[in-house]
Amino acid sequence: MRIGVLTGGGDCPGLNAVIRAVVRKGVGVHGFEIVGFRDGWKGPLEGLTMELGIPQVRGILPRGGTILGSSRTNPFKIDGGVERVKDNLAAGSIDALVAIGGEDTLGVATKLADLGVNVVGVPKTIDNDLSGTDFTFGFDTAVNIASEAIDRLHTTAESHHRALVVEVMGRHAGWIALHSGISGGANVVLIPEVPFDIEEVCDLVKKRFETKYAPIIVVAEGAVPREGGDMTLVSGEVDSFGHVRLGGIGDRVAAEIEQRTGAEARAVVIGHVQRGGTPTAFDRWLATRFGLHAIDAVAEQDFGKMVALRGTDIVRVPLIEGTGELKLVSPAEYAEAQVFFG
Ligand code: F6P
Repeated sequence: MRIGVLTGGGDCPGLNAVIRAVVRKGVGVHGFEIVGFRDGWKGPLEGLTMELGIPQVRGILPRGGTILGSSRTNPFKIDGGVERVKDNLAAGSIDALVAIGGEDTLGVATKLADLGVNVVGVPKTIDNDLSGTDFTFGFDTAVNIASEAIDRLHTTAESHHRALVVEVMGRHAGWIALHSGISGGANVVLIPEVPFDIEEVCDLVKKRFETKYAPIIVVAEGAVPREGGDMTLVSGEVDSFGHVRLGGIGDRVAAEIEQRTGAEARAVVIGHVQRGGTPTAFDRWLATRFGLHAIDAVAEQDFGKMVALRGTDIVRVPLIEGTGELKLVSPAEYAEAQVFFG
């Protein structure tokens, strides 16, 4: 069998570990030929391929990013896109695809599976907002980076008696903010799931200053103030999945804190540092196991499925279970962090 592999959407530490596992088991155990498609769904759409044998995956386990490249191309938004994908798969004699991606990339995989394309999904996103799996790889790395940043910010905030607002990624879900906020000892955590009241935030900031410690406020990029309610945009730009480019909420919160409390406040945007560089051991372990199980699903012709982590087991779930609904922070989980606010 000839199997195509692609990585789509925002890159994420651990993608190369999945690719390596798919190739090592695909070639070494199942005797498949593996073909790399470049730049997400743009690869099958435009017939962009690269050789993907065991020599190509040597040494990539600890490397961040993806050797295949990525994009946010959506063939369903392009005239004749789906037919072009199908034609290119047929022309390349591709029997099945392993699609590694988040809600958008796997959303395309779900629709293609419904149209008869043989596809197995691997869930990826630093945001950890895919349903059907306990964790996605990349999340642990992002949380560790954000948590280390928070640790470092505590000492400089205290030296200067400043409030520091740390903006982390998380468009719809506050998982990175919640986990890094708890592990970093943040005094306020603001997430998209719970619109915040800026006055309450300022009261918590003042309370923290009264204890002679400097407050750290972790804010997810998709967090929204209760009044107003609109997401803060840095530009009107949207990608081909209709997602707006976010950014700026950290600065807005810092400016409000200064104005309302009189205390000095600065914003730090961790941004793409969260997504770059080497994956943690946990993410390498999870990504490797996802890759091994995805190629086994292909070997068993169990298509239209996504591999998922349940406890410590890797299971297969229908693709739609992963992409149908986002996994959001529950009120009970948020309440755990709130114990430490102020
Ligand atoms: O989906 C992963 C993610 O890192 C989100 O947390 C973030 O909103 C988005 O990608 C940023 O995308 P880009 O790098 O394309 O601006």
